[in-house]
Amino acid sequence: MAKEATKVKEENPVQEINIDGFDYVEFYVGNALQACYYYNRGFGFDIVGYRGLETGSRDMVSYVLEQDHVKIVLTGSMNASTEVAEHVKEHGDGVKSIGMRVRDVKASYETAVSRGAKSIYAPKVVEDEHGTYVSAAVATYGDTIHTFIDRSNYKGFAPGFKTILGKSGNSTGLVHIDHIVGNVEADNLQKWVDFYSQIFGFHIFQYFDAEDISTKYSALVSKVMANKSGTIKMPINEPYEQGLRKSQIQEYIDYYNAPGVQHIAITTRDIIKTVGELRKRGIEFLTVPMTYYETLKERVGEIDEDINELAKLGILVDRESEGYLLQIFTKPVQDRPTLFFEIIQRKGATGFGKGNFMALFESIEREQAQRGNL
Ligand code: FE2
Repeated sequence: MAKEATKVKEENPVQEINIDGFDYVEFYVGNALQACYYYNRGFGFDIVGYRGLETGSRDMVSYVLEQDHVKIVLTGSMNASTEVAEHVKEHGDGVKSIGMRVRDVKASYETAVSRGAKSIYAPKVVEDEHGTYVSAAVATYGDTIHTFIDRSNYKGFAPGFKTILGKSGNSTGLVHIDHIVGNVEADNLQKWVDFYSQIFGFHIFQYFDAEDISTKYSALVSKVMANKSGTIKMPINEPYEQGLRKSQIQEYIDYYNAPGVQHIAITTRDIIKTVGELRKRGIEFLTVPMTYYETLKERVGEIDEDINELAKLGILVDRESEGYLLQIFTKPVQDRPTLFFEIIQRKGATGFGKGNFMALFESIEREQAQRGNL
């Protein structure tokens, strides 16, 4: 049986790149207009920014969506020759950039590149009537990049975008990005752990081995990379093929055609309200059998929430020594079985719901079997 959550917090002698937190996450998609409707009406994001033909962007169109501290950008292509079109052809809809808010873009970029990160673009300072916006980018796993952003002297989203007012999504209570998970190929986990520890100066916050996370069919191995302040948490998974059939991580890689972002976890202060609202708006979630709730009280002890209420919505609970957390996972949010979202409410627990992995994986595998990919 799984051990108690493996907490490591290994010291890292490498000086950390100063990162305040996640900024925006940019998706490259096949149809930004329609994706925008999904995140606006489905997830409750406000539409706050736009660039396209009307603003002089001839090749690409982007919508900026915001809900409390979460910002996402949906970018589509107007012709076949852009990197967006290439990306979509290769990967389907998916995350291109994980933006990180920094105080000194030049220092962060130069430190990363001098330690071996691949440059995507060097620091760019843009001044317009809204102020000064500085950004730079380096590559990470697959075709994914990290964009360093300093928007402290800028009003609005970014140069080239016009501000949109009055397109409320009627918030579903999402607050901020808790963690962003990447899937990498078999035997590549260590390479990316080294990347985040030796280049970014992050430490291993937790890890899970095959014994922790395995079902009859598939397993994965995972390490959580984090900065000291805890504002950035990036678990990385690799497939572990001990089982009879294909690992869910391998299924992702087969369909994404590369390593990439597997899920984005977003916090809420009231998961029952948030998930109820999301379900009402048509967002679909993974479900666990009712037997999960029959033994819940024994597993997690006293909790504030009504278990019947949780069961009705399919919300999972995990207890750790410092507290507990509530979480639920959406089904994939695009045609390919790749990216999905997690909604999480933390009540003292800092982990990732290890106690739920088994129930959850069985649920994922039921879906995988329905897709003929198990
Ligand atoms: Fe997660």
